[in-house]
Amino acid sequence: LASIRVDVTDVAPGTQLTVLWQGKPVFIRHRTGEEIQSAQSEDDIVETMPDPDARNENINAASLATDENRTIPSPEGEGAGAWIVQMGVCTHLGCVPLGDGAGDFGGWFCPCHGSHYDLSGRIRKGPAPRNLDIPPATFVDGTTIELG
Ligand code: FES
Repeated sequence: LASIRVDVTDVAPGTQLTVLWQGKPVFIRHRTGEEIQSAQSEDDIVETMPDPDARNENINAASLATDENRTIPSPEGEGAGAWIVQMGVCTHLGCVPLGDGAGDFGGWFCPCHGSHYDLSGRIRKGPAPRNLDIPPATFVDGTTIELG
């Protein structure tokens, strides 16, 4: 797979960047401490969520969709869970969800048929069958993410 490198220097906590990779949008969100805490606080009910699988290409496919398993390792000097990288493609029929706290669970919302994703990109309500997919993504230095 062709990889790209994305400079995330200007992506402040509480904001996100959308880039194109393999012709599809990828959401890169820099989460605040409050967002991380809120996402982690739901981990104990992950097995009852519509899709309990992490859907994270960077880890074992059988992993649970805990917040830790839905985020990528932070660069040096930053706490765990600060960065979440996901395909910006609704797992229902492929619309691009809205972000920045949209929907009933504070994460992303797909307006096409009403799918609500939480702060970890986990599907919580609506017709989408799966969590937002997490592509191969890793920090190659303190401010650069490699996709692919
Ligand atoms: Fe997103 Fe149908 S495409 S809810």
